[in-house]
Amino acid sequence: MNVDHHPTADTLCDLPLSFQPVAFRVQRASQPWAVREAHALRRAVFCVEQGLFVGDDRDAIDAHAQLLVACTTVAGECDQVVGTVRIHQAEPGVWWGSRLAVHPSFRHVGRLGATLIQLAVSSAHAQGAHTFWAHVQQANVPLFTRLHWAHIDDLTLHGRPHARMQANLAHYPPCHAPDWGFMTQGTAPRGAPSGASA
Ligand SMILES: CC(C)(COP(=O)(O)OP(=O)(O)OC[C@H]1O[C@@H](n2cnc3c(N)ncnc32)[C@H](O)[C@@H]1OP(=O)(O)O)[C@@H](O)C(=O)NCCC(=O)NCCS
Repeated sequence: MNVDHHPTADTLCDLPLSFQPVAFRVQRASQPWAVREAHALRRAVFCVEQGLFVGDDRDAIDAHAQLLVACTTVAGECDQVVGTVRIHQAEPGVWWGSRLAVHPSFRHVGRLGATLIQLAVSSAHAQGAHTFWAHVQQANVPLFTRLHWAHIDDLTLHGRPHARMQANLAHYPPCHAPDWGFMTQGTAPRGAPSGASA
């Protein structure tokens, strides 16, 4: 996919709100174009929208992390990336999730954030996770609490208030097929391109 042709997150926020039903696939990113679009979405969200990083949010963890994506679909196949998260194992059995992002035009429409969290924890569980952590922005603590995460303590990261939270693995049965992942239904703004560029 050519993300250079996609409007920025800022311009996408101004699109008229006319919605159409759409199916999404949430899966491990297996194609180079999906990895590129996921990184472009992360830059748009964490560098442009939130200003947490300058230029690029990638770090050393990306070299060994597994990248998951939420995509719009065409005939059941992943078409354009509209959400992403990454997971990595920090020590045997101890996994972390980070860089959860959903394109602004696709938030609150298809449970994409919740489904990315589901696949993140369930696929780590299938790979032997006994503990799954995340540093969660304070504004998103209620979302994670509803999804059976425990609020452990508070800290400041990148100059912003965060919470260290732990997933209750009993609510995340192992997913052994992350390359297939999950399907979810929702609505999308009519005519809105689904990718994002930084
Ligand atoms: C946080 C984020 C990933 C959520 O994605 P999303 O696709 O909108 O979330 P979902 O639609 O899956 O949310 C699931 C449910 O939680 C609710 N929810 C979502 N974000 C919430 C929040 N911050 N607080 C409380 N509830 C929230 C949704 O309304 C939805 O409710 P419903 O089941 O009654 O419909 C998205 O808002 C985002 O990308 N934000 C910017 C980047 C960011 O903050 N990343 C997270 C860093 S910790």
